[in-house]
Amino acid sequence: MESLRGSVTGSIANKLSGFTIMLLFLLSCSTFTSTEAYDALDPNGNITIKWDIMTWNPDGYVAVVTIFNFQQYRHIQAPGWTLGWTWAKKEVIWSMMGGLTTEQGDCSKYKGNIPHCCKKDPTVVDLLPGTPYNQQIANCCKGGVISSWAQDPTTALSSFQLSVGAAGTTNKTVRVPKNFTLKAPGPGYTCGPAKVGKPTKFITSDKRRVTQAMMTWNVTCTYSQFLAQKTPTCCVSLSSFYNETIVSCPTCACGCQNNGTESGSCINPKTPHLASVVNTPGKPNRPMVQCTSHMCPIRVHWHVKLNYKEYWRVKITITNFNYAMNYSLWNLVVQHPNFDNLTQLFSFYYKSLTPYEGLNDTAMLWGIKFYNDFLSEAGSNGNVQSELLFRKDASTFTFEKGWAFPRRIYFNGDNCVMPPPDAYPWLPNASSRPVISLLRSAIIILASWVLLLACV
Ligand SMILES: *[C@@H]1O[C@H](CO)[C@@H](O)[C@H](O)[C@H]1NC(C)=O
Ligand SMILES: *[C@@H]1O[C@H](CO)[C@@H](O)[C@H](O)[C@H]1NC(C)=O
Ligand SMILES: *[C@@H]1O[C@H](CO)[C@@H](O)[C@H](O)[C@H]1NC(C)=O
Ligand SMILES: *[C@@H]1O[C@H](CO)[C@@H](O)[C@H](O)[C@H]1NC(C)=O
Ligand SMILES: *[C@@H]1O[C@H](CO)[C@@H](O)[C@H](O)[C@H]1NC(C)=O
Ligand SMILES: *[C@@H]1O[C@H](CO)[C@@H](O)[C@H](O)[C@H]1NC(C)=O
Ligand SMILES: *[C@@H]1O[C@H](CO)[C@@H](O)[C@H](O)[C@H]1NC(C)=O
Ligand SMILES: *[C@@H]1O[C@H](CO)[C@@H](O)[C@H](O)[C@H]1NC(C)=O
Ligand SMILES: *[C@@H]1O[C@H](CO)[C@@H](O)[C@H](O)[C@H]1NC(C)=O
Ligand SMILES: *[C@@H]1O[C@H](CO)[C@@H](O)[C@H](O)[C@H]1NC(C)=O
Repeated sequence: MESLRGSVTGSIANKLSGFTIMLLFLLSCSTFTSTEAYDALDPNGNITIKWDIMTWNPDGYVAVVTIFNFQQYRHIQAPGWTLGWTWAKKEVIWSMMGGLTTEQGDCSKYKGNIPHCCKKDPTVVDLLPGTPYNQQIANCCKGGVISSWAQDPTTALSSFQLSVGAAGTTNKTVRVPKNFTLKAPGPGYTCGPAKVGKPTKFITSDKRRVTQAMMTWNVTCTYSQFLAQKTPTCCVSLSSFYNETIVSCPTCACGCQNNGTESGSCINPKTPHLASVVNTPGKPNRPMVQCTSHMCPIRVHWHVKLNYKEYWRVKITITNFNYAMNYSLWNLVVQHPNFDNLTQLFSFYYKSLTPYEGLNDTAMLWGIKFYNDFLSEAGSNGNVQSELLFRKDASTFTFEKGWAFPRRIYFNGDNCVMPPPDAYPWLPNASSRPVISLLRSAIIILASWVLLLACV
């Protein structure tokens, strides 16, 4: 009788918790759909696009446009950024340096001297490395790749120069362009209106003279993961020395294997002639992810490896399951309370992110140049790993209740799906807990997913 009552209340509690999770997702819909994105780990993160008018011309101006990536840990990887806007009047671009527009548009009105671009809404991309010097300007020609601010502020910007005609020729008559769009390289960014500010001051390289722009405006773009992609791209698995259980990524964390009806939703690594299947051209939209239960292109594994008297040790492994993607300049953001006392880190770089005064539990990790900063496509080389040594703080350290596991992990700025906390490996003597069936957690993840899709 007693046990029967226990199981009944238990199942009600289970249903309730599932219901609460769904309710939470529903409630958070309103924040997801808002384009004003807010990232608690990088509250001021944004991309600022600054236009400096350097000289006035008889029919317009010459401007240097600089894209600053002020985001701590979100970079722009190949094939790079694409910037678009709509001209306020009938402006044309006579010429460009360090960048080009993807389409010329209709320049039939012009004779003799033909503009570089006559489109009302030009789209600009960066030039490639190796561009002849006479077409370069400073900070250009990196194929649109921009590093994150924490990783390397000296390469966290990209510039091009354009000569604009049929435009205003004084700061009273010039009109700022409208409707800026930034792809980096996919969707995810929302740009605000251009705001005219104080003209930028430039200091000559010998620091003996300061010049200034004729006029300056800037545009701020912010990122939202929910605009960027509708499904997660990364998941977390866990293990420890004190329990042989390996908690794998939640089933269907990034998608479900669609076997039976549709074959080819993923690639079986045992496929004969795998290389030729993977390299078949002409099917750009074909999924290129290895078949796994989680279907995520990226998995981050956190293994609590050793327990010393004053220290403890963690091994992190990042595995790429995507046959169609190399991740250059990858980065990881990890939140764990012991990052205030990280003693040693092997074979990754590290930077503490302190978005709020006094809070020191979040770190950004990334690879060492030419050693492991390039996470290769799926296969035997498709992983990178590191070990972290933490110093124990007697007042907080414990192996109980999953304390040794990370609170949150981001890969390349996107939140990774964590296993449910009640599935974490237990200490051998942990008190009894309700058994959560794998099926139920899969159902909850699926349901929250459906709700997410409905929100976006
Ligand atoms: C963009 O980021 C920069 C650098 O962190 C900051 O100074 C600026 O205020 C931010 N802009 C907005 C609109 O948040
Ligand atoms: C425009 O230029 C005049 C001087 O030529 C200056 O006083 C004024 O502040 C400038 N306005 C803007 C918006 O830059
Ligand atoms: C802004 O740009 C987007 C995409 O290029 C376009 O769909 C939209 O109509 C534009 N809006 C205005 C007001 O030009
Ligand atoms: C952008 O313009 C605003 C308004 O003038 C200014 O407050 C801000 O500092 C500018 N940001 C950058 C990065 O130049
Ligand atoms: C589909 O996949 C699941 C697990 O991945 C497996 O148990 C099941 O047998 C498969 N069904 C078919 C029709 O292949
Ligand atoms: C990934 O990099 C390797 C080695 O540089 C290259 O051979 C391969 O084609 C790249 N794969 C993709 C999908 O770009
Ligand atoms: C955060 O941790 C880093 C590295 O351990 C340390 O250098 C920094 O002073 C700490 N900051 C705060 C606010 O505790
Ligand atoms: C790191 O751990 C030592 C020993 O427990 C402690 O004295 C020190 O205050 C800790 N440092 C931080 C930043 O918490
Ligand atoms: C290891 O953790 C799992 C939960 O993930 C638990 O079911 C199991 O009983 C634990 N093993 C031991 C020996 O405590
Ligand atoms: C684990 O629990 C058993 C029984 O509750 C107890 O006898 C044993 O000493 C405990 N072991 C440890 C390492 O705490």
